[in-house]
Amino acid sequence: MLADRLGSLDVSLRVALKLFSPLLYPDTDSYLSEMSQTAQVAMKIAEIQEDHLLDVHNFIESSGIQIMVMEWVDGFDLNYLMESRWLRTMAEAAGKERWTRINDVVITAGPTQSRLKPGVAVHVLRECLSGLAALHRSNIVHGDVKPSNIMLKRTASTKVIDFGSAFEIGRPRIQPAWTPRYAAPEVIETGKFEMNSDLASLGYVFLELVAGRSPFDNVKTKAELLDVKHTLHDQVENVLPRDVRRDTGLVELIRRMIHPDCSERFSSPDDAHLSPDGAAAAQRRLVLGDLSSEYEIDIRDWLMFVSAPD
Ligand SMILES: Nc1ncnc2c1ncn2[C@@H]1O[C@H](COP(=O)(O)OP(=O)(O)O)[C@@H](O)[C@H]1O
Ligand SMILES: [Mg+2]
Repeated sequence: MLADRLGSLDVSLRVALKLFSPLLYPDTDSYLSEMSQTAQVAMKIAEIQEDHLLDVHNFIESSGIQIMVMEWVDGFDLNYLMESRWLRTMAEAAGKERWTRINDVVITAGPTQSRLKPGVAVHVLRECLSGLAALHRSNIVHGDVKPSNIMLKRTASTKVIDFGSAFEIGRPRIQPAWTPRYAAPEVIETGKFEMNSDLASLGYVFLELVAGRSPFDNVKTKAELLDVKHTLHDQVENVLPRDVRRDTGLVELIRRMIHPDCSERFSSPDDAHLSPDGAAAAQRRLVLGDLSSEYEIDIRDWLMFVSAPD
């Protein structure tokens, strides 16, 4: 939730608050012990100061509830941005030329939701990888990478948010709060995170962004979900629109991110970013193929047509 932090001289500063409910814990001791770990991890993240990680300001308590105080991001999470209604709003409000350009290079209609064009999606992916790399260098696992936990600022900068599930390697949480749809298969199967489990989650997000649909849309049971996660790397092309699957490098990049076998998956965010079949190389190919654009300007232009929830 958003709040205004009051200062002297009648000023106030907008901040974001995340409240942690004690009701999820069997007793106050386990709540406080987990909150103490969460707060320590949050403070470590604050020290990292990576541009693509949300800034954490403080941890406070009110009526027995622990609250994380964070930087307010003037932007939108990816789940919200991929809702088809924004394309309709834009079609009405943008002139023809602008609408065509945004449709060509930024975002267009997908099968069940909007889809990002590859260049813009890779821009977002690279920034998320930079954020995750910084977390992992400090031995922190994010633990719940998904579209609603990634925000795009109006300035076109990407922020990985929601450190409510983050933990230090070797100190797992008492109440893990990951999301099955975006969790790596080993997390669903064992409840344990590998160092590259976050990468599989980011891979599912990236696939959904460029496909305009989730590969798990029709899945009903946990067994079905696992089944799709174990076979998806061989089916990536079938999920992607034609213009995207033409880029075999991009298909391979997705495969290596979502591979169900951790040892076949990229080993780290830096590996996924910088290796010859990683995201930076994918973007270089788009530049050579003249499919790049000035992403930041184009993203900013697009976001002018999106408004905050009431
Ligand atoms: N710092 C922030 N600035 C602006 N909006 C935010 C911020 N943090 C979260 N949000 C919005 O609130 C939603 C929920 O916040 P989040 O921290 O992910 O908590 P949870 O998933 O536990 O509800 C996010 O998906 C995002 O849309
Ligand atoms: Mg969240």
